[in-house]
Amino acid sequence: MTSLTKIASRWRRIVTPIPAPQSLPLLERLRSVEPRSMAGLPPVVWQEAEGFLVRDPYGNQWIDLTSGIVMANAGHAHPRVIEAIQRATDARLLATYAFPQRQRLELLEKLVSLSPISDAKAILFSAGTEATECAMMLMRRQGRAIHSKKIGIVSFVDSYHGRTLAAASASGRRRDTDWIDRESLHHFQIPFPFGPRWPWGERIEDSTGCHAFEHCLAQLTEQGVGHHQIAGFMLETVPGWATWPMPAGFARALVAWARSHDVLLCFDEVQSGCGRTGKLFGFEHCGVTPDLITLGKGLSSSLPVSALLGGRELLDDPAAGEMSSTHGGNPVCAAAALANLCVLEEEGLIEAAARTGALALARLRSVLAPFGERLLSVHGPGLFISVHFVNPETGEPDVFLADAVVREAVNRGVLMFFTHRGFVKFTPPLNIDPEAALEAADVLGECVAAAIEHLPARQKSNGTSISGPHDELNTQVGRGG
Ligand SMILES: Cc1ncc(COP(=O)(O)O)c(C=O)c1O
Repeated sequence: MTSLTKIASRWRRIVTPIPAPQSLPLLERLRSVEPRSMAGLPPVVWQEAEGFLVRDPYGNQWIDLTSGIVMANAGHAHPRVIEAIQRATDARLLATYAFPQRQRLELLEKLVSLSPISDAKAILFSAGTEATECAMMLMRRQGRAIHSKKIGIVSFVDSYHGRTLAAASASGRRRDTDWIDRESLHHFQIPFPFGPRWPWGERIEDSTGCHAFEHCLAQLTEQGVGHHQIAGFMLETVPGWATWPMPAGFARALVAWARSHDVLLCFDEVQSGCGRTGKLFGFEHCGVTPDLITLGKGLSSSLPVSALLGGRELLDDPAAGEMSSTHGGNPVCAAAALANLCVLEEEGLIEAAARTGALALARLRSVLAPFGERLLSVHGPGLFISVHFVNPETGEPDVFLADAVVREAVNRGVLMFFTHRGFVKFTPPLNIDPEAALEAADVLGECVAAAIEHLPARQKSNGTSISGPHDELNTQVGRGG
């Protein structure tokens, strides 16, 4: 437990050490009944989340930079979303499976009207992973109809598409600890053209990413994978780890290649969609349109709703009854999502994300400037900003420092989450008061200074990370491993 420094500002209030001593029994009870995989976040008990503020039951209040992990785009507990949920529950229709019902229809009509894909249809699910899984299934069905071997899916290394089998196989990177061999499932990966750490060494005059796609193709060829084995690409256009849009030249080359080889494209907008990047869809930064789009998280800013959008022919491929889910299009969830999309639009939250994001980014760059040698990059479109730390000695991501910054922030009333990968994310609800976003940026500057100050001597002197991502906050409450 950390010693207590009381914090009081217009938005932040910290009156107990973190974790709050009173919360320990609850945290212990949780840890005793759920797997340790659930213990990856700072030990803050959420009692109430409203707008861009999160409160615990012990008098503490945080400016929320997590949005419930990039979910509450319209703000937590938006009154119009709550009202829509209440109206839906008052109607005493809590579930319908695939029977026809109005709320599902209205959300689908809204999604189709927003879709840049012509003659689009959409289908609803609960989790993002269901939408991405379904997209890969559809791409594979199309590929297989062309050739029995054309069933491969290509994704970016280190991307994230969910936890079900295909989604997990398209996520992360190949490891010895993989519980199933990705290649045996026909999943292949290419590097993401991340500007600050260009995967092909020197960035040499490829700011548009034009040649990067050729490098990716060459890499697939090296793996013995050609277009005749590829059904589709499942790609995050602004990956959650990178918050860096796919370069436009890369995207154009990708689309041209895919079109000429009957390869489909799904852009996974579960995290980067719904206004997060200052545009409705993240792919608008790249100037191309895919065949399929997945949405989730910020689609409802609340209850579990995800969606898959695509052309009529593609979505109509499975026969009646072959593509559905018990809770997909649940009337209460659909009502929440429709209200949320209306709020994003009518309250101008997409434009707000662009405006507030630009202010916050400029302030972050200014307050973090003194720590230049420990920073790889501070960037991101809209309110999809990340700060990447680097170990000045090794040039590797500084996992220890990034996680220490999160602990410092939580102690100071700014809620963040551990990535355990050497970067932190600045992703508040899109309706955050710009003054609060600037305050949070200032606090982050203090946190980096404090985290460096408290680095173990060995790391402070030579930049060596002496520890992995273990966090003292979590070990306080019995986190294993
Ligand atoms: C880009 C992306 N795709 C898919 C998912 C999976 O969504 P869910 O956790 O709702 O299954 C996530 C979740 O973080 C995501 O960020």
